[in-house]
Amino acid sequence: MQDRTPRPEDLEPIERAGVDELRAVQLERLRWSLRHAYDNVPHYRRAFEAAEVHPDDCRELADLARFPFTGKAELRENYPFGMFAVPRERIARLHASSGTTGRPTVVGYTRDDLSTWARLMARSIRASGGRPGDRVHVAYGYGLFTGGLGAHYGAEELGCTVIPVSGGMTERQVMLIRDFEPEIIMVTPSYLLAIVDEMRRQGIDPRTTSLQVGIFGAEPWTEQMRQEMEQRLDLHAVDIYGLSEVMGPGVANECVETKDGLHLWEDHFYPEIIDPVTGAVLPDGERGELVLTSLTKEAMPVVRYRTRDLTRLLPGTARPMRRIEKITGRTDDMMIVRGVNIFPTQIEELILRTPELSPHFQCVLGRQGRMDTLTVRVERRPGVALDAAERAGDALVRLVKNTIGVSVSVEVIAPDGVERSMGKMRRIVDQRRAV
Ligand code: DLL
Repeated sequence: MQDRTPRPEDLEPIERAGVDELRAVQLERLRWSLRHAYDNVPHYRRAFEAAEVHPDDCRELADLARFPFTGKAELRENYPFGMFAVPRERIARLHASSGTTGRPTVVGYTRDDLSTWARLMARSIRASGGRPGDRVHVAYGYGLFTGGLGAHYGAEELGCTVIPVSGGMTERQVMLIRDFEPEIIMVTPSYLLAIVDEMRRQGIDPRTTSLQVGIFGAEPWTEQMRQEMEQRLDLHAVDIYGLSEVMGPGVANECVETKDGLHLWEDHFYPEIIDPVTGAVLPDGERGELVLTSLTKEAMPVVRYRTRDLTRLLPGTARPMRRIEKITGRTDDMMIVRGVNIFPTQIEELILRTPELSPHFQCVLGRQGRMDTLTVRVERRPGVALDAAERAGDALVRLVKNTIGVSVSVEVIAPDGVERSMGKMRRIVDQRRAV
């Protein structure tokens, strides 16, 4: 793999700034953001008053803990434009989250917000090993989802040649990678696997393509998946994190030289980790739910937004800004089987330790009597004999029992048996009937 470490002189000054300088910038921006939300969004004024806090009460960063949380419910209640802090005419673009149930969550950006986003995405792509002049194949979906357009404008901002493919039409994705020779691909890890399968079908060795860096996010993926992708594609697999409510992709990104968790761009977002049950703020290093406060957003400031993503805060390494550990799951993705909490990422990790099994899998939740059951439906790798795959399935049952401590069933199915996603993969299929 090519060395893709950015040169120190290419980083923005704030990316290299000391922690004291960073904290001073954060405090000043936090005070502005709380005041902006309070003055311009009726929801925040009411919520602050109910909690008996005022923006002036924020004298140091720790004072943020006195302010109320914001969740998806509040955004839904104010659908579509009630959380905006500027007149609608100043909104330059809208995005929305798909919202599997009910109303989508709508987010808005002013022109300045869009340029901040593009700069943070450019910073993220550079941290991933991207450089001006690189060709960037964007296979995140374009549209109301923030992935495609977020990646697009960031790559343009960095000075790259953007190839705006969006998701889908996998055969054509492969043709464009072969013909346009991109150095960078930006895509969900699960859709990348579908693209790799298609390369194989076309007789292309994925290790021989022009790709040097993959910037993968929008869904959880594990260290084992990184190894799998780096090995199968001979590229740097780098993690990107974000969520539409807070901006979109580019809230945090790994650095290609360390690949040790995602540096959170703290000059624009203030992170806290809380106990998801009590809401108490936890010290750095402890696992819990990530809560984010925007520091510079004009159109839609968010105060203590509960992401539901589980991680922990770690000190900076490649950059002074703090890192979040690779996200293991969301509070809503937690399966409880016979009293044991499990996330699909834990299953992914164990599947990838079993060479006969492919990373294409789903967790099927069922019910037997009063007990919840979990069946891992996983494809055998192409070329693996049926009986060897069955034995590997039995071995996976034991591995799950021994490492996670829960009994599951494993159903090994033929290659291509699990539905491919063009974007975020649906890992959990819930077949439990309400009782
Ligand atoms: O998924 C934004 C995005 C696009 C991020 C492209 C990265 C790349 P939403 O659709 O609002 O926005 O979904 C946000 O996706 O709260 C996490 O649960 C999950 N997620 C995003 N990135 C990661 C990641 C985009 N790197 C939700 N690892 C978040 C794990 C991720 N989960």
